[in-house]
Amino acid sequence: MDISKRGFRGLLTVAAAGAMVVGLSACSGGAEPTGSGSAAAGGDKPITVGFVAVGPEGGWRNANEQAIKDAFTKDAGFDLKYAPAASPSDQKSQLDAFSTFVNDEVDVILLTATEASGWGDELKKAKEANIPVILLDRGVDASSDLYVTRIAPDNKQVAKSVGEWAATTFPSGANYFVLEGVPGLSVVNERNEGFDAAIAGKSGWNKVGAQTANWKTDEGKSVIETVLKANNNNIQFIFAQNDEMGIGAAQAVSAAGLKPGTDVKIATIDGTKGALEALAKGDLSFVAQYNPFFGTDAVDAVKKALAGEKVDSTIIVKSATFDSPEAAQTALDKGLGF
Ligand code: AHR
Repeated sequence: MDISKRGFRGLLTVAAAGAMVVGLSACSGGAEPTGSGSAAAGGDKPITVGFVAVGPEGGWRNANEQAIKDAFTKDAGFDLKYAPAASPSDQKSQLDAFSTFVNDEVDVILLTATEASGWGDELKKAKEANIPVILLDRGVDASSDLYVTRIAPDNKQVAKSVGEWAATTFPSGANYFVLEGVPGLSVVNERNEGFDAAIAGKSGWNKVGAQTANWKTDEGKSVIETVLKANNNNIQFIFAQNDEMGIGAAQAVSAAGLKPGTDVKIATIDGTKGALEALAKGDLSFVAQYNPFFGTDAVDAVKKALAGEKVDSTIIVKSATFDSPEAAQTALDKGLGF
């Protein structure tokens, strides 16, 4: 993407943000440079950042979007324009916000998509306008030359760590159920792929079923209540693709007169404070963190993109795992829950 069409506005604003890029960083792969390779001196305009966001959705989302707001501050040289979706599943409001940012000629767009499909036209418009787009958290079904990079923990690896823990915990396998996030999202498909890969070939594993609970605690509880009844409580393991659904599953297990953590083990993804507390209490058995704190990574990618540096096509955010009440309590004592 050649930023020259937009003159040095983008480069001047990079200088204003204190990102005097003096050379190209060595990055493997990644999108084409978006600028002339170095920040122009001077300039006092802030970098305008259009953030097409999901908005209120749960603990992880709140932590992640706050991390972005905390990183793209005026003091850091940015003018962050936050555009949450009308609801976590409302793609139209996101497409409208994206289009407005292109028409307003912001310097860069950050996108966390409520759906993976349907972004091609808008991304092409941004490319034609020489506005770099950076994906946060979720991928989209579009050519990778239409965006600079995707910044997220590795969903497949995070889910693989859940599967590896499950395979070790249940060496002879188990009847299990999967609570999925909102259908069609890249992270849902990636988490299924990672978990399945970890238990592939392991004997005794019987997938009773999978169903979305839309990332929500009440839906997770309702789904598992039905599943337990339909299977005479013969479920040993539940993989919940986020903490809120897993906490709902634990509520359903208890309501069925079973003991979560003993009769039914539940593993989740995210690492919110509520999940770590549930793990410390024994209601959950394993929590794989999906680290939401990548504001600095996003600022770095924005500055590099606007300064014409190549950026890796994916930026992986490191995440931890918690496999015991003691590990959870230690994390809570260190303030790692969010
Ligand atoms: O895309 C990340 C997922 O979205 C998180 O795991 C979940 O909590 C959120 O709703």
